[in-house]
Amino acid sequence: MSSIPNHVAFIMDGNGRWAKKQGLQRLLGHKKGADVVKSVIQQCMDKGINYVTLFAFSVENWKRSSEEVSGLMDLLRKYFSAEFSNIMEKNIRVRFIGDRTGQSKLPNDITDMLAGIEERTKDNTGITIVFAINYSGRDEIVRAAQMFAEDVDASRRYASDFDEEVFSDYLDTIHIPDPDLVIRTSGEQRISNFMLWQMAYSELYFCETPWPDFTEEDLDKALESYAERDRRFGVA
Ligand code: FPP
Repeated sequence: MSSIPNHVAFIMDGNGRWAKKQGLQRLLGHKKGADVVKSVIQQCMDKGINYVTLFAFSVENWKRSSEEVSGLMDLLRKYFSAEFSNIMEKNIRVRFIGDRTGQSKLPNDITDMLAGIEERTKDNTGITIVFAINYSGRDEIVRAAQMFAEDVDASRRYASDFDEEVFSDYLDTIHIPDPDLVIRTSGEQRISNFMLWQMAYSELYFCETPWPDFTEEDLDKALESYAERDRRFGVA
């Protein structure tokens, strides 16, 4: 098995605390965080990682102040409009996971933007970057189960078809391999409703560095730790 993970997922934590420590508004922490996103994508490409997932906005994040929520939405608009040509130039395929159904709280222009980016990058053959936006693991599982149940109601499926493989195809991550390594920055050691189904056998790595200060050296340390692990997938 390769010592370089095929798929690395990031829980980008600590933007707010980083900003507070510098005497800045929380949004400036997110802004610096978006710059780090760009650098980390390039670093992962250079290291031969094939899939990167970034937890950018959770379903729970809507409970933050309206100023922070609208600031984060604006940051997403700006990030993708500034980065789109670079994404195409680097042959990057972009996927989004998270609730984009009619009931979702995402502004329509953002839902449209995400659909457009996914469509326009779908034939790119380089690294796949997965942005988790309006995402939570339980919400994804519930939406997938609802879709399966609707297919049963409409006689497109039998309940007896239900197994792990079939269910995986109803998840937002369809055709994306499970993360091998999940990195959470800024000291907290929890999963926070991220990729609950997909992380069944992921290796976990927690570091103290807040996301806005995350450097290639931090990434290298995480990859070194991963390379030393003995992954057994439940087999003795
Ligand atoms: C967690 O830090 C981070 C977020 C809720 C948002 C992550 C967003 C970005 C890194 C920038 C935008 C992303 C893209 C893809 C352009 P926190 O606010 O919970 O930090 P705290 O725990 O210190 O308060």
